[in-house]
Amino acid sequence: GKEKTLAIIKPDGLFGNHTDKIKNAVSESGFTICEEKIVQLDEESVMSFYAEHSSKSFFGSLVKYMTSGPVLLMILEKENAVADWRALIGPTDARKAKITHPHSIRALCGQNSEKNCVHGSDSPQSAQREISFFFEEKSSGSVVQKH
Ligand code: CMP
Repeated sequence: GKEKTLAIIKPDGLFGNHTDKIKNAVSESGFTICEEKIVQLDEESVMSFYAEHSSKSFFGSLVKYMTSGPVLLMILEKENAVADWRALIGPTDARKAKITHPHSIRALCGQNSEKNCVHGSDSPQSAQREISFFFEEKSSGSVVQKH
């Protein structure tokens, strides 16, 4: 059946005018954008979203990067959405992606292992957590802007 995943176009993606190119790749690959919004994340949100990386040496830099400007959050849907979106964006390190996966989004739009332009949930469980982290439905059906 259909599956949902969370995609983020990170601050370097928005600043670098990569949004149209990325959205074209999204629709050409058969994803439906269920919901989307542009948000300026604060430090607290990023620290909570990336809690699993809190002990990593790059954590402080990651928080600074992800709060350096607005991000575009998208819920993408299709069969096998989690794995297919991960395949489309390519490896985490955009420098390596340019060599091993030259047509991937990170190869085309990213810069290095940190400024890699886009995010994708790494499992269906993560996708569920990440989607409810950013998109919370109230009983009224309105979207609450928490971040
Ligand atoms: P993402 O897929 O969103 O998940 C965690 C993020 O941490 C990753 O993309 C990068 O932006 C960042 N990251 C991962 N590894 C490194 C690294 N070695 N150095 C700096 N940033 C990293």
